[in-house]
Amino acid sequence: MGSDELISLTGIKPTGSPTLGNFLGMLRPALDLAQDHRALYFIADYHALTTVHDGEQMREATAEMAATWLAVGLDPERAVIYRQSDVPEVFELTWVLSCFAPKGLLNRAHAYKAIVDENSGAGRTQDDGVSMGLFNYPVLMAADILAFDADVVPVGLDQKQHLEITRDIAAAMNSIYDAELLKLPEPLIREVVETVPGTDGRKMSKSYDNTLPMFIGADEMRKRIRRIVTDSRRPEEPKDPETDTLFRIYRAVAPAEATEELRVKYLDGGIGYGQVKDDLADRVEELLGGPRQRFHELMDDRSELERILADGAERARQIASGVLWRVRAAIGVGPSG
Ligand code: TRP
Repeated sequence: MGSDELISLTGIKPTGSPTLGNFLGMLRPALDLAQDHRALYFIADYHALTTVHDGEQMREATAEMAATWLAVGLDPERAVIYRQSDVPEVFELTWVLSCFAPKGLLNRAHAYKAIVDENSGAGRTQDDGVSMGLFNYPVLMAADILAFDADVVPVGLDQKQHLEITRDIAAAMNSIYDAELLKLPEPLIREVVETVPGTDGRKMSKSYDNTLPMFIGADEMRKRIRRIVTDSRRPEEPKDPETDTLFRIYRAVAPAEATEELRVKYLDGGIGYGQVKDDLADRVEELLGGPRQRFHELMDDRSELERILADGAERARQIASGVLWRVRAAIGVGPSG
């Protein structure tokens, strides 16, 4: 881990069982960044507190998310993995940033605005059900990023505005103190090259109940794959790969050559859907069998998981305390001299 490497930083909320879609669309691409970045990964438990108000659920989902990162190949020797709540510097910086974040800017944040609009539409007072935590969510996120001098932050399109808010707040402070106090991060917006469809052909989403959860048993996974909806063409009939859910999932998990071979069979009428389902289940097992085993090992040995997170927090705090030291000196708080 050379110090000349750029810093990449990824936060993910602990919100229960990750899916095959999360793996292909988010976890794996974020993990790739560790190859040529100094990569930081954290579980944003205090962001989840805006919605998760059950201690046991929070604890379990946080452990699951950490175990997931490690199971899919995050190397804790090379990258840093930590719990957001274990880095107090982030919360001190949150307060500092909130003193420079224009309230009007936060009024326009998409998540908050959506609730206000919904409330207004339903004839409720505009802030009905809005906590200060929800309102300040973007400021905490800015602190997550700015506390580590992050150069790049891989995010989905839905988080783009949060990165803009982060940059705005950082630029405001830099200008007021006339110094390069905070590093402006670059968003690395994930191109949705290909979303993995769910078992019913719509976007894979927990709210549609059409997901393939990453760590269910191999048999259960095969069952779910068998239930994927197809048309009723017989094996010898030509089929359109582009409109078939099975094919589209297969393409997302299999190597290019295998996908091409399957495409030809579809077009020629050389394969039945039952066979494709079996092949797909084999591919998914190839991809997730190893991670599933590591995931359960980690979940069964919490002390090992906690050891890794404690080590990560210590390394994270080293970076964040350097940034905080710089900020405190500039704003003039704490001991002088
Ligand atoms: N808000 C992000 C999400 O919902 C999670 C997150 C919190 C995050 N802090 C972050 C992402 C910092 C990137 C950087 O997906």
